[in-house]
Amino acid sequence: MLCLRVPTDPAWVKEALRDLGAVLVDHAHCEMKAASNALSLAARHPRNFALVKALTDLAKEEIEHFQRVAEVLEQRGLSLGAPPVDEYAADLRRAASTLGRWPTGPLLDRLLVGALIEARSCERFKLLLEALPAEEAELRALYTELFAAEARHYRTFLDLATRAEGSAERVNDRLDRLAELEAKIVSSDRAAKATIHG
Ligand SMILES: [Fe+2]
Ligand SMILES: [Fe+2]
Repeated sequence: MLCLRVPTDPAWVKEALRDLGAVLVDHAHCEMKAASNALSLAARHPRNFALVKALTDLAKEEIEHFQRVAEVLEQRGLSLGAPPVDEYAADLRRAASTLGRWPTGPLLDRLLVGALIEARSCERFKLLLEALPAEEAELRALYTELFAAEARHYRTFLDLATRAEGSAERVNDRLDRLAELEAKIVSSDRAAKATIHG
């Protein structure tokens, strides 16, 4: 799916359904982190108005997603709690840094890591959507919508990367290398966890 090299292990879906509450809590945090990541990236590039506009629009949408998921938590009597460390995102950033500095600076990798996180979230929302029982109609409707939104965000990050770099070819080469690293992280023998990227 999208640029992903390997599909999610079916063990993750089983684990996610076993503790859907934990997945929802983690999901809410992921939306908040997506918003704050977009804002921090926008703040680092204040002269690039197109980038600032696209990333602040994206942040607005991620905050809206956060509020939607937080509403579900409230309805289910779940509390948000402290944000957990997203090991997947941390591993991905660390892996990206092993590729060496990109000549035009860190923006390209930050945008492409953002694209990969969106792509993996999008894939997992679809898996959840397909696995949720019929009585979870409301949640299925939410994941249908978020699946489409995250696919769109993936495209936004790629478009921004291409605009920043001025060459789709260079962007695709770097994305290929990052996607290989992402596949290794997802295929590592860590036990599946009831989190969006676990
Ligand atoms: Fe989102
Ligand atoms: Fe997103």
